[in-house]
Amino acid sequence: MSSIQINVTDRDGVRTEGVEWKDFESLMECLTRNKFPILATCGGNASCSTCHSYLDQKTFVKTGGTNEEEEDLLEMLDDTRHDNSRLTCQVEWSEDLDGAEIEIAPEW
Ligand code: FES
Repeated sequence: MSSIQINVTDRDGVRTEGVEWKDFESLMECLTRNKFPILATCGGNASCSTCHSYLDQKTFVKTGGTNEEEEDLLEMLDDTRHDNSRLTCQVEWSEDLDGAEIEIAPEW
């Protein structure tokens, strides 16, 4: 098993460094396992948007950006949607994402 480390900023602006992300997890699964306040109501099916977060720009590009299903849902968020928005359940682990900065998006 491989893992990488990422940094996560929660909704209070508190940044946690060195959060372990294991290779068999989506980013959403990593965040929930580490007890970040992500509801993931739909269980990772890109249909609830409660796992919405912002990725630093470099990381966003490395992930290849949003997929079609995800895009449909993000479009409905208007205010909280940024250029670097992703549904974390759709972000797959990759060694290249080591050191990523993730910011959990506001609740809506
Ligand atoms: S967990 Fe529901 S959209 Fe990601």
